[in-house]
Formats: sequence, C-alpha cells, structure tokens
Amino acid sequence: MIKGFSKLTKEEKRQWICQQYLSDPSQAEVFTSYDLRDENLQKLHDDFIENTIGNYILPFAVAPNFLIDGHYYTVPMVLEESSVVAAVSKAAKFWSEQGGFLCQVRSMEKVGHIHLFFEGDKHELFQFFSTIEPLLYEQTQGITENMRKRGGGISSIILKDMTDSLEHYYQVFVTFLTGDAMGANFINSCLEKMSQTIEQEAITHLSHGALEVLMSILSNYTPQCLVRAEVSAPVSRMSFNDIEGKVFATDFTRAIAVANADVYRAVTHNKGVMNGIDAVVIATGNDFRAVEAAVHAYAAKEGRYKSLTQAYIKEDIFHFSIEIPLAIGTVGGLTKLHPMVKTALQILENPSAETLMKVIACVGLAQNFAAVSSLVTYGIQKGHMKMHLANILNQLGATPAQKQEIIAYFKDKTVSHSEVVQAFNKVAGVVPHE
Ligand code: MEV
Repeated sequence: MIKGFSKLTKEEKRQWICQQYLSDPSQAEVFTSYDLRDENLQKLHDDFIENTIGNYILPFAVAPNFLIDGHYYTVPMVLEESSVVAAVSKAAKFWSEQGGFLCQVRSMEKVGHIHLFFEGDKHELFQFFSTIEPLLYEQTQGITENMRKRGGGISSIILKDMTDSLEHYYQVFVTFLTGDAMGANFINSCLEKMSQTIEQEAITHLSHGALEVLMSILSNYTPQCLVRAEVSAPVSRMSFNDIEGKVFATDFTRAIAVANADVYRAVTHNKGVMNGIDAVVIATGNDFRAVEAAVHAYAAKEGRYKSLTQAYIKEDIFHFSIEIPLAIGTVGGLTKLHPMVKTALQILENPSAETLMKVIACVGLAQNFAAVSSLVTYGIQKGHMKMHLANILNQLGATPAQKQEIIAYFKDKTVSHSEVVQAFNKVAGVVPHE
C-alpha cells in the first residue's frame, strides 16, 4: 500500500516502481529509452492520463489501395499483431481490382439515458414528463447551441416504461446527432443538465420522494449509428490463393455460415474483423473499447452471438458484406491533440465522421475476407509464421545476412521457435557477427 502516489513526480514514481517490482535497477532505463526528446511533446503525452511513468509504443502502419465508393484511401493502422496489415492490404488490392467497396451509412444517431425510479402512479409520471419535456430542450440550449449550428443536437426525448424488466424503473431515452464529433461529453453534459431539471421539477409536480434519478449516461450501444459495406464479384473471378473461383466462393460462404451457426467460431471470426477495425479506430484517436462493446452487442442482437459479416452466392455472383454500429468522431477528443492521430486523419484526407465510418467498416470486411480466405485455403500459419520468424530473428539479434540465410532455409519448412533458434545457432557459427 502506498499513500500519495499520484502526488509523486514522474521520476519518483519510476523510482518507486523500480524498487518495488524491477529486480535490476538498470531496468529503469526502459522508461528513459522511450522518453521523447521534445519535452513539450512528452508533457502532452504525460497529461493524457494520470500516474504516467512512461510511453508505450505501438507500430503505426498504413494499408494502401482501399477503393471505397470510387475513391482510393490509404488507411492508417495501429496494432501489435503481425500479418494483419499485410493481409488486409492484400484483400484491399484484390477488391480494388473488382470495383472496390460500396458503403452506406444508415443513420448516425446516438443515444443516452436518464435512469430513474418512480414509486407512484404511472399516469402521473407520464403527465409530469409531458409537462416538463419542453423545459428539457429549453434548459439545455446553452449546451446544444454550437452543436445545433453544425446540424446536430437533441433529436428526441422519450419517457419509457421499463417496469416489465425492473420494478419502478423508467428511462428518459434521448437521441442525439453529434455531427463529426463522437459526442460523449456533449451527450453526458446534456443528460446531466436534464436530470437536474427533472429533479427540480419533481419537487413541485410529484409527491415527495416518489421519483429518484439514479444516473445519467450515454449508451455505447449505438444500433442507430450504423454503417454497411459490401463487395461483390462474379464467382469466376473469385480465384484466390490458387483455388478455383467457384470452389473458393462456395467454401468461403460456408465458413461464414459456420460463424453464424456456432458461437465459438463466431467469436474468433469477429475477432478477426476487429483486428482491422480496432487498428483504425486507435490510429484515428477513437475509443476502441466503446466500439468493441457496441459491435459485439450488435453481433448478438438476434439473441444469439453471430458473424458480423454475411456472404452468399446468387446467380454466379459472390456477395460479401458487413453491417456494424460505429460511433466515432473526426473532431474533438484526441483528434487535434495527438500529433499521430492528426497525421492519421490527414492521411485519410481529413474525413467526416460518416466517411470514417465507411472506411472502418471496409477495413473490417477486408480483414475478415483475408482471414477467412486463408483459413479455407492454405491456413493462416503460413503468413503468420513468416512474420513470427522475422520477430524471432530480431529477438536473437540476427544480422541481415543471417536473416536472409535463415529465411531462405525456412521457405519450404514449418517455423517453430526452437527450430529457428537451432538454425540461428548453426548459421551464427558459420557467419560471423558484424
Ligand atoms: C487472428 O488474429 C484472427 C483470426 O483467428 C480470425 C479468424 O479466425 O477468422 C485469423
């Protein structure tokens, strides 16, 4: 137990961590080795969160050749897993040669709730709500003014009777349009202001103590903020990984059917979709936890967890699509603050939130196409192991010449950690270190 940790300087925090947890004090260098030279930039990163003791660096990559609604995009991706960027880039190129991705944003509505409990006559509550509803709009005008200028704001406020699910439970269900912003702060500020109004008005309109506002918060489930992306091509052109088009397309649709039939497979299948989605969401400074939560809830919207992507063959045309909720933003939050996020958005040509939703959905679809294509043909280990081999060789400190020789050796062999070490030891014996 340590008291006042948050009050220590960064250096003192590091020292405490070293003393407590790192056996070798020289390990403290791991923190300094990742410190930024530019002090202002370092301070900016330090201040994003609390108790910062260092930087944690992930690779920033790009996947080019995404042809989306007739426009080519180069997509920034931040993640640690090897093969993901290579695989999605290959899929993007393949689909750009078939006419590219087509997208549609169904709507961009976000929701928030005031969760309240009322122990009294339902009709009295509904009467009270219709009396104060105009006040809820009126008293939030100061907060919504800027958003309204940008075409957003509060779209509707509804009182819902939830007492079938939970005794005395009602919900003020509020829908919002937040333009290019993710809008979490805006939504929560509106909700908290509305809660105050409800509580104040209840004093004069309802019996004492009958109504209790429990909490007010946006919902990360955003099925009204929905994007769809699709690709299609004649089955004859679906030859992939040296497999004939019809066989490949049939096996591919079967793999999607399996993910719809079995939750074990569905989770892994959707994890592959999220490999791509999360990487773009992180690169563009969006909240990947919120996106993950919404997407997985949506995958279970029919009462059973299913595939996020669908595929079928009709009249010799292969169709493949994804539909997902994506509450993301391209203004506010980290977008101007984090230099890499700003750069990611510039690479995407400073998209609107609607365009970014489309790009992210296409990346998810392409990522899933890449994974399932490998799975139903030569398996995923071939691609993974190539990167794995490179990582092991880096860990072993292999020289460029040693790497070249060992990579050539494993060209037609299965990669395992111990065999790479063996090969390295052998090669290191004959090729001297530089
Ligand atoms: C690995 O990160 C993702 C895959 O397992 C996805 C899938 O199985 O579809 C390859």
